Amino acid sequence: MNATLRFDDSSITVALVGCGGFIGCHLLRALLERTQWRIFGVDLDSYRIQEFLSNSRFEFLSADLAEPAVVERIARYPVVVNLAAICTPGRYMAEAAEVIRSNYNHPAALADACAQSGSWLIHFSTSEIYGKTAADSSALVEDESEIVLGPVTASRWSYATAKLLTERYLTGLAGLNWTVVRPFNFVGPYMDFMPGVDGEGIPRVLANFSTALVRGESLKLVNGGVAKRCFTSVHDAVDFVFCLFANANVAIGEAFNVGNAENELSIADLAQMMRLVYASIKGKSESDVPGIEVVSGEAYYGKGYDDSMRRLPSVEKALRLLGFKAIVPLKVSLEESLRWFIGHYEV
Ligand code: UGA
Repeated sequence: MNATLRFDDSSITVALVGCGGFIGCHLLRALLERTQWRIFGVDLDSYRIQEFLSNSRFEFLSADLAEPAVVERIARYPVVVNLAAICTPGRYMAEAAEVIRSNYNHPAALADACAQSGSWLIHFSTSEIYGKTAADSSALVEDESEIVLGPVTASRWSYATAKLLTERYLTGLAGLNWTVVRPFNFVGPYMDFMPGVDGEGIPRVLANFSTALVRGESLKLVNGGVAKRCFTSVHDAVDFVFCLFANANVAIGEAFNVGNAENELSIADLAQMMRLVYASIKGKSESDVPGIEVVSGEAYYGKGYDDSMRRLPSVEKALRLLGFKAIVPLKVSLEESLRWFIGHYEV
């Protein structure tokens, strides 16, 4: 891999797998706006990227990694970003086998093809590979933290197990140029779906709480909402990928946390913050927006649900090797996300 990928080099084509998803649609926009590159995008969905389909620098293929011919084609490009995944906890219990196929078998096949072709594979993994972290756990360090996953009967961990195996596969595959990205709860416009409108089941917490607010229903706090997360703007995530592109020489062969440790809060506090932001956007008083209801994890998600109680990233490695630090405050992300959600779904 050439250590300097110049953004004005129009001879470069990047393959973006999962270009129609939440992160993919933001990255695609940024690639088209900030570079002269061509983008070969693959996804089963294109509703988030309709405005880009006619762009002459973008070629879209409606497919997924289950098709070997598609995998072969993707691996012909020198840089491959793989964002494709089933990544909503609501599906990890009932659809564990499909979750494992999507998060291990498919990316492993893509890694094999990239090892053959010599492409640089930037693989989006997950902060969930750190497993069942306790409430008093310290910052998660890429190349040091011990990993504990729950028992096999707790199928919540089907996803983390598959993602972790993929990371191990990538690091063990001879000849592969790889970089692993571990997202810490990215948030922003276009995240997930509204149940019953453009998706079924339980989306992740931002979309779930946004849906409840817009529908005037109570926000469901799973097991009291004591678990903590570090929510990170999708715009910071996009900037991180550009830091990778600019630093291929140091990024290859490394795994990076991408998270904003300064945005840490409990899910109960997130619910309250979102209620206040929603009230302010709508010009309502707090007492006029939906309240909060506590539910049990198993009742809400089904048997086998389990949780990470704290997910705090160490951000030192990304800063040291790439000069990257996430900077968008949570309140700014929530305002942007909720305004988008209201504009998109509220009638
Ligand atoms: C999920 C994925 O499993 C991770 O791979 C991914 O990295 C992560 O999202 C992410 O977005 O980066 P998790 O953080 O557990 O992990 O995702 P959410 O479904 O958003 O749940 C966050 C917390 O909120 C959990 O404690 C959950 O129990 C709680 N929650 C969720 C509620 O209290 N109410 C809800 O309506 C939804």
